Amino acid sequence: MSGNLSLHRGNILDVACDAIVNAANSALMGGGGVDGAIHRAAGPRLKEACRPLAPCPTGEVRVTPGFQLGDRLVFHTVGPVWRGGGEGEPALLEACYRNCLDELVRRELVSIAFPAISTGVYGYPPQSAAAVAVTICRAFVERHEVDITLAAFDQINYDAIATALSAPG
Ligand code: APR
Repeated sequence: MSGNLSLHRGNILDVACDAIVNAANSALMGGGGVDGAIHRAAGPRLKEACRPLAPCPTGEVRVTPGFQLGDRLVFHTVGPVWRGGGEGEPALLEACYRNCLDELVRRELVSIAFPAISTGVYGYPPQSAAAVAVTICRAFVERHEVDITLAAFDQINYDAIATALSAPG
């Protein structure tokens, strides 16, 4: 059994999938970056749906409908703030990816799109973040028939993910 792992250049909102992952903060009340884009596109009901689910600890996931995003659910996860790498950031970033993927399968859904969690405001180096994302997702598609898209909004993250994907697994 095996799934598929691919790279999308551009806006995560353009990816057709069952679950869009949001790089949120623990308050789940929206913000800038991909969080802001998802909240704007989903409409104000998203914030109301998030309210009772907060706070979301780093590494965990909370699920809401996508409202104006159509049938797509939103998986809100909170990436680690980069503090130099010695404060458990890699394990927390791994947990974000793993918990979202486990949630996808638990709900019997088959496709998911991730942004480059933590690589914006939270300052995680793109190359290190890409290595985590690709390692976790690659291992997952070897065991599950799911379709995972890694969405890279900027050239630096695109190049980092493409390089990680081309490295032997
Ligand atoms: N589609 C895909 N990727 C996007 C989009 C988009 N529409 N908009 C931004 N990105 C990318 C950024 O280029 C970056 O590589 O998402 C990545 C993650 O950046 P942030 O959105 O800043 O997320 P993060 O670093 O995890 O910081 C989370 O930022 O906006 C706040 O509320 C959010 O406090 C939280 C923090």
